[in-house]
Amino acid sequence: MKKTTAYFKKAKEEGKKLSMLTAYDYSTAKLEDAAGIDGILIGDSLGNVIMGLEDTISVTMEDMIHHSAAVARGAKNTLIVCDMPFMSYQVSPQDALVNAGRLMKEGRANAVKLEGGQEVAQTIRTIVDAGIPVMAHLGLTPQSINAFGGYKVQGKSEAAAQKLLDDARAVEKAGAFALVLECVPATLAAKITQALSIPTIGIGAGAGCDGQILVYQDMLGMFSDYTPKFVQRYANIGAIMTEAFEAYISDVQSGSFPKPEQSYKMDDSVIDKLY
Ligand code: KIV
Repeated sequence: MKKTTAYFKKAKEEGKKLSMLTAYDYSTAKLEDAAGIDGILIGDSLGNVIMGLEDTISVTMEDMIHHSAAVARGAKNTLIVCDMPFMSYQVSPQDALVNAGRLMKEGRANAVKLEGGQEVAQTIRTIVDAGIPVMAHLGLTPQSINAFGGYKVQGKSEAAAQKLLDDARAVEKAGAFALVLECVPATLAAKITQALSIPTIGIGAGAGCDGQILVYQDMLGMFSDYTPKFVQRYANIGAIMTEAFEAYISDVQSGSFPKPEQSYKMDDSVIDKLY
């Protein structure tokens, strides 16, 4: 059965942990879906892991729609959440609503995610009131990297921790159905989780969150530019891929690929008639 935002709500009520991963294409989404993942995020992290950009700032609506539509074709049972890229929701709530609508209509997402707290509360309300579920995102919000001055753990001082808690309450009040907490000390994330009735999904936010999310290339060892401390590697697919690529190159060079069984046949008499 298709997992929805209602499934996420019920999971929080029942204390059942939620699992999420990113995906950006049909084949990966299909594999994650078959494995039973609860939610797939088409993260704007695609700027880093798919497009090779140094941050998420240049990711466009068209990029997000393109990848979201591919994921939606592959994942039939999981909740599909699509990131709103930088500047697609900051200008005005109306602008944000138009863009959220495009991610739903053209990207076939079931929900959108945007970064920020009290400053985006009105935007969240406007989108939610139009029938589009919103996942909020607090802590280390990569679209604000230039304001943060680097990828750093957030909420360590009393003032910063209180602001995070206030922001979390504000996005819940505005109607968000879930909240991603990124790079937040575990004890603070646990406190926020207890204070909210919506599920928190942690990434570098400890075990006290209601669920977890990872970028799939990180957990499969497919992205080596940098690996955040919070990543747990479940397989080393990058090394397996490199080995397979090397074996293929060597087989092509030696002529041992393709073999007769990988080739198509035809009647030799036809070939003999050719001049
Ligand atoms: O873009 C992304 O992949 C994200 C996750 C890290 C939560 O926002």
